[in-house]
Amino acid sequence: MRERDAKVWRRTARLVLSEITAEHGHELYELDADPRVMRYIGTGHVRTREDVDDAMRRIPRAYALYPGLGTWRATRRDNGDFVGWFALKYVPGTVEVEVGYRLRHAAWGRGYATEGARELVDYGFDELGLFRIIGITHPENVSSRRVLEKAGLVDAGVGYYYGRCVRVHEALREREWRPRWP
Ligand SMILES: CC(C)(COP(=O)(O)OP(=O)(O)OC[C@H]1O[C@@H](n2cnc3c(N)ncnc32)[C@H](O)[C@@H]1OP(=O)(O)O)[C@@H](O)C(=O)NCCC(=O)NCCS
Repeated sequence: MRERDAKVWRRTARLVLSEITAEHGHELYELDADPRVMRYIGTGHVRTREDVDDAMRRIPRAYALYPGLGTWRATRRDNGDFVGWFALKYVPGTVEVEVGYRLRHAAWGRGYATEGARELVDYGFDELGLFRIIGITHPENVSSRRVLEKAGLVDAGVGYYYGRCVRVHEALREREWRPRWP
């Protein structure tokens, strides 16, 4: 899809973040069907097409339910290639906001995850005025923990989210922080 066709939400140095709509189901299914991508997510199993169709119904609804939060599709600014997604969203059943990301294997190792995560953390503090942003990882997901650290989150120990024991990272808004909005 060409960039001008998608509802662009914001841009980073190398990425375009856009809203996810029904026509993105197939690329999200391909992402979640890759065992390398899903290794540290949930049970570690790849997702079925039905799982992804469920997510495709939830994601666009969440833009309206939780204005300012969401899951955004990332593409490369230079050639439009699909990179994956980034999210800033409530952890289900809690009042915690988490930063998350899932990238195609072909896009790993180029700093895209760090670039997108930093953008969302800055946005969460500067534009939404959040007090705390967390990152939840499988304890063995070293690269994701590294991404969180490079995005300014620090190790906050072990927590219990999504029905399992996980590693939690957190970033707190600076004490002197004041809103930039009028
Ligand atoms: C986790 C993920 C987003 C990382 O993407 P990425 O594009 O490789 O991330 P970046 O390039 O921004 O940074 C990765 C960092 O981890 C480091 N890293 C990668 N593998 C590592 C390992 N086995 N041990 C130590 N560090 C490792 C990299 O060196 C890099 O750090 P550096 O820049 O200081 O060298 C990507 O692997 C992914 O989408 N995985 C599947 C989904 C997933 O696990 N999402 C997170 C759920 S919590």
